[in-house]
Amino acid sequence: MAVRETKPGRPDGWFKLGRRWRKTVLVTHIVSAGAWIGIDVMVAVLVLTGRFGSSDEVRGLAYEALATFVVWPMLGAGSLSLITGIILGLGTRWGLVRYWWVAIKLVLNIVLCTLILVALRPGMDEVGAYGRDLVNGAPEPAGISNLFFPPAVSLVTLTLATVLAVAKPWGRIRRTSRARRSAGTGR
Ligand code: HEM
Repeated sequence: MAVRETKPGRPDGWFKLGRRWRKTVLVTHIVSAGAWIGIDVMVAVLVLTGRFGSSDEVRGLAYEALATFVVWPMLGAGSLSLITGIILGLGTRWGLVRYWWVAIKLVLNIVLCTLILVALRPGMDEVGAYGRDLVNGAPEPAGISNLFFPPAVSLVTLTLATVLAVAKPWGRIRRTSRARRSAGTGR
């Protein structure tokens, strides 16, 4: 069931965001999530160029750019999305674990940020070294592991999170006693 109300109401009990603050944090939240998606698209382009680029030099430069510029901006955008999302959850009636769409986004955001640190970051030195070898014309035959998965998984997950944010499906995680009474269970 879609949740139709979009106005901020009773907050989660911590604090209530005023109208202006809510809008400011919401804009920051949307911009950071959008930046994160944009960085993912850039990663996909660099990975494809690294794999299918027109020459070893182009391919090597793509891998070097990937290793140098991607991880920290991506983690920054992901962390900002997480922090602003948590502020929005706590400061509005949406709560953090009150509605399915918010709770699922919270889990997805934490999982993706963790994957950037534990799965993407450790391989980047190797990717940079391979890129340098390609530019210098002496690539290691072992090459590097498959780099298509990180941007693919991240883009699918962030698209899902955006759909959840806009559609706000499935309603509350636990129904209130008033909702249970009006549904006829009485408990
Ligand atoms: C995973 C990455 C995320 C993406 C792509 C994302 C995307 C969005 C978008 C596009 C909106 C605007 C929806 C609208 O106004 O109709 C939004 C709102 C919201 N997001 Fe996120 N979000 C993410 C993570 C999070 C997290 C981790 C939380 C909190 C745990 C969160 C909590 C919220 C809340 C509460 C709103 C509604 C704010 C309001 O209307 O006052 N989001 N999100």
